[in-house]
Amino acid sequence: MYEFSLFQRVNTTCEQNKLDTGGKDKSFYTRLIANTAAIRSLYMELYGYQAKTELWFDEMIQTIISAHTGRSKKLQERDTQKEQKENWFLSNEITGMSLYVDRFCGKLQNMPAKLDYLTNLGVNFLHLMPVFQSPAGESDGGYAVSDFRKVEERFGTLKDLKDLQEKMAEKDMYLMLDIVLNHTSHQHEWAIKAKQGDKGYQDYFYMYDNRELPDQFEQTMPDIFPESSPGSFTYSKECHKWVMTVFHHYQWDLNYTNPAVFNAMLDTVFFYANLGVDILRIDAPAFIWKELGTTCQNLPKAHTILRLIKQCVQVAAPGTALLGEAIVAPKEIMKYFGTGEYTGRECDFAYNATQMALQWDALATGDIRVMLAAQYELLQKPYGTTWITYTRCHDDIGLGYDDSMIAAAGFNAYEHRKYLKDYYSGKFPGSPAVGALFSVNPKTQDARISGSLASLCGLEKALEYNNPVEIEMSIRKIILMQAQTCFLGGVPMLFYGDEAGYTNDYSYLDDPAKSYDNRWMHRPVIDWEKNTKTEEIGSIEHSIFSATQRLISLRKQLSVVADRKNLTWLTPHNIHVAGFLRAYDDQKLYCMFNYNSKASYITWYAFKEHGKGTKLYDRWQNKRYTVGEDHEYLIIEPYSFCLMEVVE
Ligand code: GLC
Repeated sequence: MYEFSLFQRVNTTCEQNKLDTGGKDKSFYTRLIANTAAIRSLYMELYGYQAKTELWFDEMIQTIISAHTGRSKKLQERDTQKEQKENWFLSNEITGMSLYVDRFCGKLQNMPAKLDYLTNLGVNFLHLMPVFQSPAGESDGGYAVSDFRKVEERFGTLKDLKDLQEKMAEKDMYLMLDIVLNHTSHQHEWAIKAKQGDKGYQDYFYMYDNRELPDQFEQTMPDIFPESSPGSFTYSKECHKWVMTVFHHYQWDLNYTNPAVFNAMLDTVFFYANLGVDILRIDAPAFIWKELGTTCQNLPKAHTILRLIKQCVQVAAPGTALLGEAIVAPKEIMKYFGTGEYTGRECDFAYNATQMALQWDALATGDIRVMLAAQYELLQKPYGTTWITYTRCHDDIGLGYDDSMIAAAGFNAYEHRKYLKDYYSGKFPGSPAVGALFSVNPKTQDARISGSLASLCGLEKALEYNNPVEIEMSIRKIILMQAQTCFLGGVPMLFYGDEAGYTNDYSYLDDPAKSYDNRWMHRPVIDWEKNTKTEEIGSIEHSIFSATQRLISLRKQLSVVADRKNLTWLTPHNIHVAGFLRAYDDQKLYCMFNYNSKASYITWYAFKEHGKGTKLYDRWQNKRYTVGEDHEYLIIEPYSFCLMEVVE
């Protein structure tokens, strides 16, 4: 249906804003008109066709136009360059690192001086962990934001952030920041006003006079932090109401049934986009819509909100990609890329948390069958969208893949997960890993895993026992895990410190603001003395750093690794070896990863199932091979891998 009055209204707003729709604002105007009907129908899906919704809708259109008029010429040019690259973020040339500015180098002003360290490693994309204002002691690592537009003083100023963005752009680097959409700190201005009794701001949150509705909600809402923050509501003494707090008691959930909340947060989205953020990480989107009688996770309207944000962003800041940080089961994650007519039109990125966890599964069991059982689901990702692939991040490792995948590999799901938890918490006899269980649910015994890449791979214990063989094995495991992450398809995101083999840091136990949350054990404070060892040949730091550097550099050289939905898993000729083929036009790359503590044998037949190719070149070991007879084998060393390019 052509809605004449709608377009008339949009045109009037454009005129009021003095847009030059035939000249410099033409491409914005074209995008706006092309998306108006979709934006409107998504908005109405959320808020209903009512007279007052129209006013909110007009306000939102004004927000989109202001975002465009406030976008600098430089950023508009960058948008155009990205548009010309078409799906710029699918590239094999991007590798990221996620870091806490303060723990990495103190403050934002010190970041530019560290860019060379990062580019030397091959990193050209940074995820800065939250830098906006967040109360000390009640910050959840910055995910409890008290001012979305003010940089936390100890990190520096907004100008420092902007300067860093410009320096990064000059070096062709990309920037990712978080938008914490689901909640604010209880010290955010809106929450303070709500506590003071302002009804308008109380409607920004889920607030109730008594326990009646909170009790009903809690019957179906799972606890996120059952140990440190059980339940989903907190009593506010100031206004005598129960407030929904799904995460910590100091993180108040925003109420998106109120269009004022959506409009205000969309404006914040644009504030970040206009700072020059290339990828916006939407924190915890699975939780943004709540309905009684449900888990309040992954609800259809959470997707409506994301789609709406996506359509608005592509109008006013088309170079900004969206990452939906949903750490959910494989079937659910696919929906964050959009479904139906919105397939490929919701989030551009999601974390491949399932694959990440399955690599940890394979490392502990030496068996890749559960990993394989999950791939059918994971390969459903639509073309044009991509993953953030990773081995470790600031969060815990959740074992949230489906029981059916564990069963398909022939294991009992409960026993299997119990083994993984025991293995990584070091409880299992002989386990080389040193980690800890995070958020154990006393009712279900569900738990996640904390620990740094190096410690979970055995380096901490090997160093303690000064065991050179185990040190070597742990380094191999670290590189094996990073290698699979790098070649799987998607943008690999390293976690700072992992490139230099940082083991767990237990100092968080002495800080009452952190001691309740063992995720801090794997969030190191960088010691730049130690990091200089990355240059010292023979040191552990150098072994890990240089291998990581080589992986990134190889990835950049092999365009077949760009995520063109061009990955085929190989038949598991050996249950210890995860193997896949990346193919594009006449380029072919076989990637094989041995999760076994012993050498593994792969029949040469594995290289014949997907078309011809007789000569192979292992880009990792720099070795040439001729594909042999079916009864002959390629031998892959313990915890090693090969990246076989088909050369003939
Ligand atoms: C995301 C963050 C996590 C935080 C949570 C609440 O999952 O990654 O660190 O605790 O959101 O904001």
